[in-house]
Amino acid sequence: MAITRDWDGGSYDRISAPMLAMGLDVLDRLHLRGDEVVLDAGCGSGRVTEALLARVPQGRVIAVDGSASMIAAARERLGAHANLELVHADLMHLDLGGVRCDAVLSTATFHWVPDHPGMLRHLRGAMRDGAQLAAQCGGFGNIDAVHHAADVVAQRDPYAASFAGWVGPWNFRRADDMAHDLRAAGFDDVRCRLVPRPVVPDDPVEWFRTIVLGSHIERLPHDLRDPFVQAVVDLMPEPVTVDYVRLDIDAVAGPI
Ligand SMILES: C[S@@+](CC[C@H](N)C(=O)[O-])C[C@H]1O[C@@H](n2cnc3c(N)ncnc32)[C@H](O)[C@@H]1O
Repeated sequence: MAITRDWDGGSYDRISAPMLAMGLDVLDRLHLRGDEVVLDAGCGSGRVTEALLARVPQGRVIAVDGSASMIAAARERLGAHANLELVHADLMHLDLGGVRCDAVLSTATFHWVPDHPGMLRHLRGAMRDGAQLAAQCGGFGNIDAVHHAADVVAQRDPYAASFAGWVGPWNFRRADDMAHDLRAAGFDDVRCRLVPRPVVPDDPVEWFRTIVLGSHIERLPHDLRDPFVQAVVDLMPEPVTVDYVRLDIDAVAGPI
């Protein structure tokens, strides 16, 4: 499994209400009768998945995530559900055993995948012709202010040695570039747009540790992780605001 970072699924589940709110807006863009097979690509701890399940009471949800910790948290949240299949897998190696989904939902995930053309080809291959894709991920300019503060702290001792030459894993795309990749992967009716969605977290330290600085702190020895997070939070103006810029994506699987 080659996902770009690991997650603390328990913490994410506890604090991710703002991500749930963004995810529900994406879910609202899916046109569902209630009997479809829907893929949740990057389901995390399953909070958006739970709402998706309620929308397809006669259908099925295949919820895929590459983090064992997230899948464990999703299992705890969702329990054994007749209409749910939880799959621990990398989206880059997605194999649904010939199942062609009626729709794909993905929230807060695509920017963690370095190879968008490859990922989109895999997703298209898992969809029937005419299936709908509704997705949202970090887009161009996403959390620039947070990353700027993190860069400032990362240049200081004792952190600097851990960050020399590191550029991070994020793939924050411009709308036109993502639209190009979608069409090349076999999608039609493509609409991509960037939307600012700032979030003021209740607990900025836990938010930064679990969500926006997760890739940074993986590079640090354990005893430097909390001081690094605190130093970045301390550099941010009050109220600490995470400057999310989301890339909203709608498309339909074209004929292949
Ligand atoms: C921020 S969480 C989003 C979870 C959920 N969709 C939400 O909106 O709250 C991003 C998720 O993407 C998953 N992810 C990232 N890259 C992945 C990949 N290549 N394959 C599968 N899952 C991946 C991570 O493990 C993580 O659970």
